[in-house]
Parts: sequence; C-alpha cells; structure tokens
Amino acid sequence: MNMEIFKLLPILFIFINPVWSITSNSATESFLQCFTSHIQNLKSSSKIILIKNSSAYASVVQSSIQNLRFLNTSISKPEAVIYPFHDSHVQAAVICSKTNGILIRIRSGGHDYEGQSYISRAPFVIIDLSNLRSIDVDIENESAWVESGATLGELYYRIAEKSKAYGFPAGSCPTVGVGGLISGGGFGTLFRKYGLAADNVLDAKIVDVNGRVLDRKSMGEELFWAIRGGGGSSFGVIVAWKLRLVPVPPSVTVFSISKTTEQGATKLLSKWQNIADKFHEDLFLDTVIGVGDKAGTNGGKTIVIEFRSLFLGPVEKLLLLMQDNFPELSVARSDCTEMSWIESVLYFASISINESEALLNRTQQSKSFFKAKSDYVNEPISEAGLEGLWQNLIEVGAYLILTPYGGKMSEISNSEIPFPHRSGNLFKIQYMVTWDDEKETEKHIGMMRKLYSYMAPYVSKSPRAAYLNYKDLDLGRNKDANTSYAQASIWGFSYFKNNFRRLAQVKTLVDPGNFFRDEQSIPVYPSRKK
Ligand SMILES: Cc1cc2nc3c(=O)[nH]c(=O)nc-3n(C[C@H](O)[C@H](O)[C@H](O)COP(=O)(O)OP(=O)(O)OC[C@H]3O[C@@H](n4cnc5c(N)ncnc54)[C@H](O)[C@@H]3O)c2cc1C
Ligand SMILES: *[C@@H]1O[C@H](CO)[C@@H](O)[C@H](O)[C@H]1NC(C)=O
Ligand SMILES: *[C@@H]1O[C@H](CO)[C@@H](O)[C@H](O)[C@H]1NC(C)=O
Ligand SMILES: *[C@@H]1O[C@H](CO)[C@@H](O)[C@H](O)[C@H]1NC(C)=O
Ligand SMILES: *[C@@H]1O[C@H](CO)[C@@H](O)[C@H](O)[C@H]1NC(C)=O
Ligand SMILES: *[C@@H]1O[C@H](CO)[C@@H](O)[C@H](O)[C@H]1NC(C)=O
Ligand SMILES: *[C@@H]1O[C@H](CO)[C@@H](O)[C@H](O)[C@H]1NC(C)=O
Repeated sequence: MNMEIFKLLPILFIFINPVWSITSNSATESFLQCFTSHIQNLKSSSKIILIKNSSAYASVVQSSIQNLRFLNTSISKPEAVIYPFHDSHVQAAVICSKTNGILIRIRSGGHDYEGQSYISRAPFVIIDLSNLRSIDVDIENESAWVESGATLGELYYRIAEKSKAYGFPAGSCPTVGVGGLISGGGFGTLFRKYGLAADNVLDAKIVDVNGRVLDRKSMGEELFWAIRGGGGSSFGVIVAWKLRLVPVPPSVTVFSISKTTEQGATKLLSKWQNIADKFHEDLFLDTVIGVGDKAGTNGGKTIVIEFRSLFLGPVEKLLLLMQDNFPELSVARSDCTEMSWIESVLYFASISINESEALLNRTQQSKSFFKAKSDYVNEPISEAGLEGLWQNLIEVGAYLILTPYGGKMSEISNSEIPFPHRSGNLFKIQYMVTWDDEKETEKHIGMMRKLYSYMAPYVSKSPRAAYLNYKDLDLGRNKDANTSYAQASIWGFSYFKNNFRRLAQVKTLVDPGNFFRDEQSIPVYPSRKK
C-alpha cells in the first residue's frame, strides 16, 4: 500500500466516523456519573478526575505526553483522566468504562514508544497511576512492594536508602514507570547477572476486567505468567508488584570509551560482537553507535562507537578481565571509576553521581519527536555489513544501542515468562531517531523504515524478533484496535515467539470480551467452533 495514504488513515478515520462523537457524549456523561457515584469520599473526587472541559485539562494532558509526535492536535484526546489514589478508584474506572462502552488507556510512566498509554481512536479515558506509587522495601526479606505508578528512579532511590547492599535489575532511564517496564520485560545493566525485571517478580496485584483486585494466588499462575512480559494493557490494570531485590557489591566499576571508525571502531565492534555475550555475568559492556563530526573535515561525518561498561566488582578485577578478553580496547585504569551501585545508576542516567535526589524527579530530562525499532542478532554482522550500516546511519542521522545478552539471560527458558529472547541471542539492537521539527516527521519515519529494511539480512528471521517495550506499530501494520488473531500474529510472534499462543489463551480466559485492548494488544484465541 502507498505509505503516505496509509499514514493518513487513522486521522481520516476519526472524521468519517461521526457515530463515535455522538455516542461519546452520552457515554461520557454516564461514565462520569457512574464513576463519581462509586467514589466514596466525593470531596476528593475533583483531585481524582480531570474532565475534558476543565480549564487545566489541555495543559495537563499535553505535559504528560513524552513523545512529541503524539502532541499533534489532530490526535483525539481522552474524555477524562483518572488519577486514582486508591485501588478502589481503579476498580470504579474499570467497571464504569466497561459498562458504558468506553475504552481505557493505562498509564504508569507514560514512556510508551507509540503513545499507547494515552492515545486511542475510540472514546476513552486514561487511568493515570502516578499517584499510586508507594514503595515498601523489606530488606530482611529481600523484597519490595512497589505500586505501578512509581518510577525506576524512585525504586532505586528507596532501595539504596534502606541498604547499599541491594539493587534491582531494571532499566536505565529513571523516569520510566514500573508498570509498563515490568509488564513488558525490563532490562538494564544488571540483567546479564539477574535477568529481567519481570524475572524477579514474586507477586502482583491486578484489577481485572470485572473490577476485582486479585493477587498471585487469586489470579492464578496463568495470568501471573502473562503479565510478566506479555504487556499489562491486554490483561488488566496492575496496581502493584512484589519484587525480589538482588545483592550488589559495595563497589562497582564503570568506564566509557569512544572510538571513531578512523580510530578502528569497526574492528573493535567486530570483536565485541563475538565476545560481549560470553563475558562473565558480572560484566556488562554495551555500545552506543552514533554519528559524529569527522576530524579535519569541514562538515564531514563519521561513526562514533561508545563502549560503556558496568562491572560488579573492583577496578583491578575489571582490568584483568579486559586484558584477557578484549585487549584491543586498551582499557586503562584512568578510564575507570569505582563507585557504589546507586551511583552507577546515576552515571548510566547521565546524572552527576552526587545528585541522587534527581532520581526522584519524575520529569524526563528532555523531550523530542522520536521513532524507534528493535532487532535481535544471532550471528555477528560482517564488516561489509557494518560498513553499509554506517552509511545508512549517517544518512538517517539515527543512533543505535547494542545490548549484549548471554549470562543469566541464556539460562532462563524461552517460555518461563512471555519474554522469549533468551539463549542464542548475541545482542539486541535499538534503533532510534529523534528530531525537533514536526514538519520532518514523515521524512524521519520513512528513513527509519529504510534503515530497518537494510538490516533484514543481518538479524533474526522467521520471525524477525522485536522487544515489546520498544513498541513499533509498523510491525504488522495493523491500525485496528479490535484486531483478529491472524493479523495480530504478525507482531505477536515477533514480540513473543511461541509464547504468543499461550498469551492468547490466557487472554481468552481472563478477558473474553476483549475489553483491555489497544493497537497491539493480545487478541482472544480463535474459537474452534464454526
Ligand atoms: C527514555 C526511555 C528509556 C528507556 N529505557 C529502557 C531500559 O533501559 N530498559 C527497558 O527495558 N526499557 C526501556 N525503555 C522502554 C520502556 O520499558 C517502555 O517504554 C515501558 O513500556 C515504559 O513504561 P511506562 O510505565 O513508563 O510507560 P506507559 O506508557 O505508562 O505504559 C507502557 C505500556 O504499558 C501499559 N501499562 C503501563 N502501566 C500499566 C499497568 N499498571 N497495568 C497494565 N498495563 C500498564 C500501558 O497501557 C502501555 O501499553 C525506555 C523508554 C524510554 C522512553
Ligand atoms: C464540565 O462537565 C461536567 C460534567 O459534564 C459539568 O458538571 C461541569 O459543570 C462542566 N464544567 C465546565 C467548566 O464547563
Ligand atoms: C499533525 O499530523 C498531521 C499528519 O501527519 C500533519 O499533517 C500535521 O501537520 C501535524 N501537526 C498538527 C499541529 O496538527
Ligand atoms: C518475611 O517473610 C516471612 C515469610 O513470607 C514472613 O512471615 C515475615 O513476616 C516477613 N518479614 C517481614 C519483616 O515482613
Ligand atoms: C555535585 O558536584 C558538582 C560538581 O562536581 C557541583 O556543582 C554540585 O553542586 C554538586 N551537587 C551536590 C548536590 O552536592
Ligand atoms: C526535574 O527535571 C526537569 C527536567 O530535567 C527540570 O526542568 C526540573 O527543574 C527538575 N525539578 C527539580 C525539582 O529538580
Ligand atoms: C470488538 O471485538 C469484540 C470481541 O471480539 C466484539 O464483541 C466487538 O463487537 C468488537 N467491536 C467492534 C467495534 O468491532
């Protein structure tokens, strides 16, 4: 299909479907009536709900949008935003939206790459969990109950506040929400040693399609399996997680070394591809590949590769490991800094390591327009392949983050939780392009798609795998939130491989009416009956 027309479809759809706006008004009224009647203390209801006609509405809805692509005025906005302070508010929101035929969007940190926590084409309300964010750390039992609206920064801060001997294996960006990250997997600098955030969930509390609050025991092992990597938004509103804390040593060592292709970066990356997944699990060494200015030229561009490391131990041990495994990188003692684990969290978030309070700041450092994609790599990419990639990167102005797998990730079976990308993967690629001018949106998205097709021969195939938390609505090119199983299989197998079928079975069990749905939610399993 012609790409240009394709992208206009969702917007046209809104205009040619006036039924929605008519039903919307009365449905919204009944929803609001239902919701307020469920709220016990009516005085507090003004803080719990933000209605489309209120004066603060526009600014609040806008300020919470993380990807500027979705600030676009032609994108339809929610009928209301609910800010629950209590599980019962979530229950009321689910019951009242279901009975009135209004969709919900569930938002924890709002970092969804495709805006799926705050955009819908049918009339909808947002359940924004930012007030449900208490964190209860229990060092004695090496666990923590964390409400979904908490950010990773808040979680790390509260753990370190109680004990410097523990951490949690989740993502690097402190403003990402616990709700979205864990329900989609969640990796970070500790994942080669301890697995994903979702691998370290002990219990959870969820509001289901009938408005019941369930824990692990009452939801059952199938649903508990599904929400640890299968994406929360298909199954219910997860209000809290019980997490297993993991031990971290008193000091860890970090380094960051950048090389241009003129300085031999391509050869270094070729070597890195062969060894990074085989390193000791205490060593995490990822690479960020971007475009930089070429020295001695006027406006010429080159590729810069940054090798970044977190080692769970002292500098001497790291230097020995690097000498034995990767002498070509010539890591010197002066490149390395020893610090506490919580300081390394700040370091990887590009925050100065003495500013730990900044972890409590829920506002993202900067916002831009962006489009991202992901791939998994099972065999090293040839140097010729890399050279072609560099040309594409310079053309597109994109950057890549290559995350090494192996270690603990290879020890966990593909079906332990819905996240299927385990042994056999050398590394994951994240492609990212950002821009500041709305007029350039189509151009950048088009170039990103071209870069992605260039990479097809070098990455996983049948299915071409992708990471759910780097959501990409190009996969399957599905634009209907009420998707069929066959259509959904296209992206379903990319994100979940063979776990997709079981996810659809769980979906059929817990939400047969497909109330919890968005453009890439798990569909109900096709019925065998004619
Ligand atoms: C700057 C940045 C850095 C990132 N770094 C990492 C990283 O280091 N590691 C990593 O693994 N990922 C990373 N991600 C990806 C991130 O994990 C996903 O975008 C994740 O979905 C964000 O969670 P959220 O709660 O902030 O997002 P939201 O937009 O609130 O939610 C994302 C999705 O989950 C659903 N959801 C959210 N909360 C709930 C809930 N309580 N119950 C049910 N469904 C829910 C939403 O409906 C939506 O579909 C990063 C993203 C960004 C933007
Ligand atoms: C907004 O809508 C609500 C519910 O329909 C109504 O009660 C309220 O008076 C309206 N407020 C304004 C400022 O129009
Ligand atoms: C919104 O998106 C449409 C379609 O991509 C585009 O034509 C328009 O310029 C964008 N901006 C605004 C402010 O609506
Ligand atoms: C730790 O867990 C055990 C068993 O689950 C429980 O009996 C005990 O009360 C918990 N300790 C604390 C401090 O909560
Ligand atoms: C952290 O260190 C920087 C300089 O290294 C200094 O400017 C800043 O004030 C310090 N912040 C705190 C909170 O101490
Ligand atoms: C939080 O971070 C934002 C973005 O970096 C910044 O503008 C704001 O001043 C910070 N707030 C506080 C209280 O430090
Ligand atoms: C969406 O799917 C559900 C369940 O399959 C069905 O009951 C409903 O009618 C569908 N809605 C639309 C608008 O197609």
